[in-house]
Amino acid sequence: MNYIKNRSNAPIGVFDSGLGGLTVVREIRRVLPREDIIYFGDLARLPYGIKSERQVIEFSKQNASFLLEKGVKALVVACNTSASASLSILKRLYSAPIIDVIVPTAEEALRRTQSGRIGVIGTQATISSGAYEKAIKRVRKNAVIFSNVCSLFVPLVEEGRLSGPIARAVANEYLKDFGKKRIDVIILGCTHYPLLKGVIRGVVGKDVELIDSAPSTVLRLRNELRERGLLAERKRGGLKIFVSDRPRNFIKVGERFLGQKMDSVKLVRL
Ligand code: DGL
Repeated sequence: MNYIKNRSNAPIGVFDSGLGGLTVVREIRRVLPREDIIYFGDLARLPYGIKSERQVIEFSKQNASFLLEKGVKALVVACNTSASASLSILKRLYSAPIIDVIVPTAEEALRRTQSGRIGVIGTQATISSGAYEKAIKRVRKNAVIFSNVCSLFVPLVEEGRLSGPIARAVANEYLKDFGKKRIDVIILGCTHYPLLKGVIRGVVGKDVELIDSAPSTVLRLRNELRERGLLAERKRGGLKIFVSDRPRNFIKVGERFLGQKMDSVKLVRL
């Protein structure tokens, strides 16, 4: 692969199945403002969460190659579904530093929990992979984990329905049993879910801490770049966004994820 070492001003590549990974981009821009970022959102093939593992691995390899061919110095897999299916394969295939959302988020949840009772919500693919359980149990064997698939959260977010009766009813259906489990943290194991924090909190209450993957993933990225002497030195980095489709309301939804205007968006076919 054409990954060239020691290019600290090369961009960081970030991908997700859709727009959810922009929650991670937003955090990279906040914490590492000097970095250039190239984002790829595979909107033509979203959602990944209901697809087979084989298919998600294939898509993830294509997304990674697309970004690495653009000369990125590091890759952030800002999609829990992709990371749970393909992280070890991507790490074997490519020599660039690859940062995923699962391990940093699991470790953050372990730092925050008092009771050791942890809720995990995600797509069907992420939850059935057991990736969070493995990452948590590797550090704390006696942690008690309660997992729930929340498939309808992704279409709700992609459609911009972040509050209101439908979002509340869906959240209630998925999360009402969590209340009885005495958990004190819930991992938002999908990069779309931070946008639903309000409705999720409305069901689980304010004493349960919601762990969003973006902050811990970006700290991991910063450490990795620092250790390798790859932190950018320019004044202010830019953002280029590539998508495999432009659904009708994607600018509106994307800007909500990103928290700023999406100026440079290009359509590509992988
Ligand atoms: N954003 C993806 C994740 O973090 C899920 C969306 C999808 O199902 O494609 O898992």
